[in-house]
Amino acid sequence: MIPRETIDRIFTTARVEEVVGDFVNLKKRGANYMGLCPFHNEKTPSFTVSPAKGIYKCFGCGRGGNVVNFVMEHEQMDYVNALKYLARKYKIEIVEEERTSEQQEQDNERESLMVVCSYAQKFFSEQIQTETGKAIGLSYLEERGFSPQTIEKFQLGYSPESSKTFLHAALQAGYKLKFLLQAGLVRSSDDETVLAQGEPNPDHCYDRFAGRVMFPVHNVSGRVIAFGGRTLRKDKNVAKYVNSPETPLYHKSNVLYGLHLARKAITAEDICYLVEGYADVISLHQSGIENVVASSGTSLTIEQLRLIRRYTPNLTILYDGDAAGVKASERGFGLALKEGMNVKIVTLPAEDDPDTFARKHSSEELKDYLQTKAVDFIVYKTRAMSEEAAHDPIKKASLIKEIVSTIAVIPERITRSVYVKECSRIMQLEEDILWSEMKLIRQRLSDDHEQRPAVQNTNNTVRPVAQQTNYDVFSSEPQEKEVIRVLIKYGNEEGIFIGESEDGEEPIKVTMKLADFIIQSMREDDFAFDNETCRKIYDDCCTFLDKNFPINEDYFLRHEDSAISQMAMTLATDQYNMSDWSKRSIGIKTEKDQLGGTAEKAVYALKSRKIEVMIRDLQETIKQPLSDEELNIMIERKQRLDTAKRMFKIRLGRVI
Ligand code: CTP
Ligand code: MN
Repeated sequence: MIPRETIDRIFTTARVEEVVGDFVNLKKRGANYMGLCPFHNEKTPSFTVSPAKGIYKCFGCGRGGNVVNFVMEHEQMDYVNALKYLARKYKIEIVEEERTSEQQEQDNERESLMVVCSYAQKFFSEQIQTETGKAIGLSYLEERGFSPQTIEKFQLGYSPESSKTFLHAALQAGYKLKFLLQAGLVRSSDDETVLAQGEPNPDHCYDRFAGRVMFPVHNVSGRVIAFGGRTLRKDKNVAKYVNSPETPLYHKSNVLYGLHLARKAITAEDICYLVEGYADVISLHQSGIENVVASSGTSLTIEQLRLIRRYTPNLTILYDGDAAGVKASERGFGLALKEGMNVKIVTLPAEDDPDTFARKHSSEELKDYLQTKAVDFIVYKTRAMSEEAAHDPIKKASLIKEIVSTIAVIPERITRSVYVKECSRIMQLEEDILWSEMKLIRQRLSDDHEQRPAVQNTNNTVRPVAQQTNYDVFSSEPQEKEVIRVLIKYGNEEGIFIGESEDGEEPIKVTMKLADFIIQSMREDDFAFDNETCRKIYDDCCTFLDKNFPINEDYFLRHEDSAISQMAMTLATDQYNMSDWSKRSIGIKTEKDQLGGTAEKAVYALKSRKIEVMIRDLQETIKQPLSDEELNIMIERKQRLDTAKRMFKIRLGRVI
């Protein structure tokens, strides 16, 4: 373990241009350095190093990161070795932290448990190759339609019928009984007090999973940490599944079945399917849907949702079509909304679960079904209401109350407004009625400390966001132009900006020039304009500002570069200005009356867009074959982008 302070020192001492410079011929260009990218073949330099930010970025292949990432990527080192490399280069001494003996013991214990679990998995897998195993275990799996590749991918197996086969094999192979017991693979008929006294007695021990088909449960890095064993009997008195107990390795509420195989697809597709059972995950994989996990063995927990949210905020729940499944999925719905996730639900025919449904349909049909049948919870709720209830005002009122209370727990105001709008449309009700009902509920919620929502809705006059029009998903040009329009039209004018506020406190109001606000906040995140003309205009505006000259719309309208003058002209005469002009005459508030909001809206829309484009790029990269390490880096990057996106969404929600 390298101590935190040493890591910090390495980061602050290492100079990215020097570290990269050892491998790449860099030329200074302005504040940055440029060179030929070491990660892909190129003839003209698109590899940039920014000493001020301590990062590198290739605009050709998209790779980038900090100084440690560079060493990891270029020298194919893991994180710790990359740190050691830099420490050597900068003569920083690393004194590795001693783990306390207690910590070491815990590490050793966990490691030992993983080792026995891995042994058990191999043992159970081998059993479906033995003669009896083939006849019983393998034939069952085949009957269920699992292909040999699927069986191997999920490491399915079989635990022989006689109650000591595994125990004997494991002891024979030298594994300690203590660990077999602790991992839950074996159970003892002796009670705790006897077990605590000394060496456990093997004669009193039995295989936990005897006679069952085995589904290993893995942690995120793909190591086996537990098992689920399914009975082969139809007998209703036998538990269908026996699962590993809670162990130092396995805390049910923090584990999602199939996550190690799904995380790449979840990140790439930016959506996760949640099912109930082992078989559901496996069948969906076999049908080509890999972004799927199950909360097997426990009802869905907040921890599991947070685990999913590390990879994507988008969740679709796909539970069994029977009454129990519907109930469980409604519960999951509420939990996920409360966690601020974008959650949808797919209802299956009552006789199906995802497993049977996937086997009845082609992979195309299945994908189509999931896409077209996923609905948000308002549509889901109103649909659940029968024709009759639609005409029964009392039932309708209670349904609306239920919907509004569900909306009220959503942490983000912008999402709440979208749902209110939808609810008002579907239920044919005035939005104002819904808002005031919600205000009451949220007041009650915030009185209750435990359920205090993350963002408080202090302003109930907020209007829902208009649907965005579609344009090229890879372009941020409309947003760039809007920022430029506001900049050259109102740059010299002052606007009122609302600062961050603590819960319950009056937000701080700041008055500043729009140009200062725009340029400051563009610099804050170091976003550049893709559109060349926008960039030129922006650069000129920065120069004006630095020299304390006012920004002059006429200067751009008369610019010698015709691309610039053209753009200034189009922006000066576009729809916004026209509609402003007509509104003025009938006395409606115009954007000029709320300049701060106009500038904020433009800047946050651009930033959100840039982040969306970055996320999309990243998702493309993630679809390529990647090493585990690369995948980890990508996933971490996506997590950061998701957080940023969320933040801008909140800010946008505040100004719209
Ligand atoms: N489960 C459990 N114990 C049980 C029943 C179910 O732990 N006695 C868990 C299992 O993780 C199971 C999930 O709940 O995968 C869903 O239950 P169910 O739908 O009954 O099982 P399936 O996965 O559909 O199994 P199968 O298709 O084999 O019936
Ligand atoms: Mn099922």
